[in-house]
Amino acid sequence: MATTHEPAAGTLSALLQEDRRYPPSDAFKAQANWNDPAIYQRAEADPEAFWAEQAKAIDWFKPWDRVLDWNVPEAKWFVGAQVNASYNCVDRHIKSWRRNKAAIIFEGEPGDARVLTYRDLYREVNRCAAALKRLGVKKGDRVAIYLGMVPELAIAMLACARIGAPHTVIFAGFSADSISDRVNDCGASFAITADGGWRRGSKIPLKDTMDRAMESCPTIQKVLVVNRTDDARQVPMKEGRDVWWHRALEESGAEIVEPEALDAEHPLYILYTSGTTGKPKGMLHTTGGYLVGTACSHKYVFDLKEEDVFWCTADVGWVTGHSYIVYGPLANGAACVMYEGSPDYPDKDRFWSIVEKYGVTILYTAPTAIRTFMRWGKEYPAKHDLTSLRVLGTVGEPINPEAWVWYREVIGLDRCPVVDTWWMTETGQILITPLPGITVLKPGSATFPFPGVKADVLDENGKSVPLGSGGYLVLQRPWPAMARTIWGDPERYKTQYWTRFPGNYFAGDGAKRDDEGYFWLLGRVDDVLNVAGHRIGTMEVESALVSHPAVAEAAVIGISHEVKGQALAAFATLRGGFTGDPAMVETLRNHVGEKIGAIAKPDKIFFTSELPKTRSAKIMRRLLRDIAEGKVLGDTTTLADPTVLASIKQQYEESE
Ligand code: WT7
Repeated sequence: MATTHEPAAGTLSALLQEDRRYPPSDAFKAQANWNDPAIYQRAEADPEAFWAEQAKAIDWFKPWDRVLDWNVPEAKWFVGAQVNASYNCVDRHIKSWRRNKAAIIFEGEPGDARVLTYRDLYREVNRCAAALKRLGVKKGDRVAIYLGMVPELAIAMLACARIGAPHTVIFAGFSADSISDRVNDCGASFAITADGGWRRGSKIPLKDTMDRAMESCPTIQKVLVVNRTDDARQVPMKEGRDVWWHRALEESGAEIVEPEALDAEHPLYILYTSGTTGKPKGMLHTTGGYLVGTACSHKYVFDLKEEDVFWCTADVGWVTGHSYIVYGPLANGAACVMYEGSPDYPDKDRFWSIVEKYGVTILYTAPTAIRTFMRWGKEYPAKHDLTSLRVLGTVGEPINPEAWVWYREVIGLDRCPVVDTWWMTETGQILITPLPGITVLKPGSATFPFPGVKADVLDENGKSVPLGSGGYLVLQRPWPAMARTIWGDPERYKTQYWTRFPGNYFAGDGAKRDDEGYFWLLGRVDDVLNVAGHRIGTMEVESALVSHPAVAEAAVIGISHEVKGQALAAFATLRGGFTGDPAMVETLRNHVGEKIGAIAKPDKIFFTSELPKTRSAKIMRRLLRDIAEGKVLGDTTTLADPTVLASIKQQYEESE
């Protein structure tokens, strides 16, 4: 099962010596949505009643018979209820004054901007839903969406949700192979893409990549194509398959598609995430509980007010964007900024110019971005008025105290609370997090489980460790936005998450609680890496490498990286006749780019004549990590050939 990865020497002790404390200011506390710590006891006394209370924030077509059916690991939330996510994110707001409130404030990378009010969003979602229906999309059909960060992405998701067709959004950085793997795994019959997208001043050829993917996607019947980069003439449209989005929506006119009354457990979406095998897992999220969990956490973790301007900088291709750009914020009727491009285009102050331009009040970003900004220097944020900001959030990986304090002081002008939120694709919603009007913050700690959530830290044998110790993070009670299963593989869902510690959800993260019970996340304890906030499985990259004719064997490990948190290093053994020279490094990096996407290209590739293996031929990545980190080698007695190590070490040191 899981192999423990020791946190880098000194990390833990340094973290636990952190003695800075940031209590909420009196002014913040006074206005906060939740400012009474009694909320924790209230939720703990009756978690189901707590979630039922939160569920009142959602509009249901039919109320539930029971809040929860729980047969480990199968959860059904709001059993018997009927609901629609699109209705909750759009229709209900246009029945109120919010109809003219900004829903999506879009900033294109080239500098174009577009504001969609809830009324506009309603019209576009209906037009898109009508177009999908005309193309033949039916309730239950899977729709693959491969788009950059443009409003059409949110519109497409909500249109799918409206008619009960689960979407699977594929991050625009993924390769053709990654698209076809996902499309084929879930048997999607429709797809939505764009001619291209803007990134760092260039056009990303989305349609080309999609076309290559479609060569091995026999289930896809139609592809809707958004015109984003005006490459209309350059993009070939396949007769009978490809349809321009703008034409199709024009044809829809002002057609209204009534939102389907869906069972609370109707699939809302499938989102693929990396695991410990070569094959990504399609996490299935359903409707009612997911809406409750995302809307509630969004409102209380960020202390959302009606007049806030919320900006989550994640890509909608990841779960953060699903939960906190689309479903949570829109269900709450929030004004959401959506930015298409890169933080350094045209210059390194782009984020701060957006904050100033739109008066962003809540900013939610990743530690890797914060560390990048630290590197670029204070002069970039200093060019802009950031006084509109009032709450800052981070997600995706552990945040080092130094970056946390920088974020608070330089971006938050030393007055905004910073909420470090722990969760995963599988959890759907934020689960371990401060509440900004209640929690005394400690830089680097995600602090405490959200009300109603029960987490613990266990040792190897499943025993809760005493305060002050570390172990495996588990969740001990279901929560509404939890993934229900892995699409097509319920067995893997069980073994992956629910058998390591029976009755507990095994997150795959190491954690420690300090003597006051604060949770400190310590990174993954399995063969899953977190590179610049992107989750990548070592096995996926290894399979990509060995699929190249030059590679006989490969092992991939994570090495610490100042900005990205972790970077990928690969050890490869080449077949006879191939040379491990710099050209081969480039060839293999590009090959991984083709197989998975640029995010999975190893930073470093080392060529070795052999890899360290156990007698049962399992590659011992732990030893490779030790070599890469220059550590004294751990236990090597299980190695089939102990001499291999010295040789790899030497080759590694020579190539460094
Ligand atoms: C993994 C999940 C859900 C948001 C984006 C990532 C790591 C996430 C934190 C945090 C320490 C964190 C964990 C987790 N992670 N947030 N605040 N502190 N680690 O989603 O791709 O499913 O990755 O990200 O290791 O297991 P994901």
